Amino acid sequence: MIKKITNPGEATFQSDMVQIDPATFESQVDTHPFAIQHKLQQHPLFQLESLVELSKRLPRKQREYVFGKQEFGTHEDLEHYKHAADNDELSTDELIGAIEHQNIVIVLRNVESDPVYGQFVNECLDSLSQFVEPVTGKISGRESFIFVSPPQAYTPYHYDPEQNFFMQIRGKKQMAIYDVNDRNILPEKALEKFYNEGQRITNCDESLFDQYQLFEMNPGDGVYVPVTAPHWVRTLDEISVSVSINFRTPSSIRRDRVYRMNRMLRRIGLRPHPVSPQANHWSELAKAAILGGPATIKNLVRR
Ligand SMILES: [Fe+2]
Repeated sequence: MIKKITNPGEATFQSDMVQIDPATFESQVDTHPFAIQHKLQQHPLFQLESLVELSKRLPRKQREYVFGKQEFGTHEDLEHYKHAADNDELSTDELIGAIEHQNIVIVLRNVESDPVYGQFVNECLDSLSQFVEPVTGKISGRESFIFVSPPQAYTPYHYDPEQNFFMQIRGKKQMAIYDVNDRNILPEKALEKFYNEGQRITNCDESLFDQYQLFEMNPGDGVYVPVTAPHWVRTLDEISVSVSINFRTPSSIRRDRVYRMNRMLRRIGLRPHPVSPQANHWSELAKAAILGGPATIKNLVRR
């Protein structure tokens, strides 16, 4: 049972806020998504009133607006970000208070920078690290994003560079996740571009668009999303609140370095091998070590 708190500054957390089967994590990390469970739906930090207060504390650059009412099946378009970001008629806290009637999804980015939410992120990842780190090696780059969405909001197909424990707090949400190993869905060159230029908008071939695994989440449900596994997300008939806990592992750092190295090799006319999801083939370890420097070799080979 979660302890009820009235002052977020006095928040205490439980070690079993997120339940993940260690054997499933070990067999599927980096390669396959899987369902997780959590107990955050009643947590005071994730009620709308607390998020309104958080939005008043977060710097503007950490409050992102994305158009929510987009045509299903379309692909992510930078224009949607650009125009939604101009939505300054209401403050973020006012937008959250009236989210049901908005055409935007509010993303509260890097909430770990806030002392109260930072404590939550650290305690959450500390509790998970006891079985995550023996499998992956030391985790780094701890981050957390909170998503406040109106009903019928759709976030088109895209992919992200972090390990992601995504948890549904309020309302229902569908997340469709594509096979991270399928280079027909996400070509090797698109990944090289992603890791070199941050370009995460590569349209899914229309003929492959329905080749996903669907996770239907109610409050208390969640999903592990492997690094760069393409996905789209949509809310149903209710306001939705979700939180993602993100981190990097030695394998995700290796992939970043190998893709950057492969881009260089392709530019001088070579045709590098496709990168494995865990980037742990000897040639990948070598490429990652070249870009990472000698001090990182020990971490790179630990799995
Ligand atoms: Fe995403």
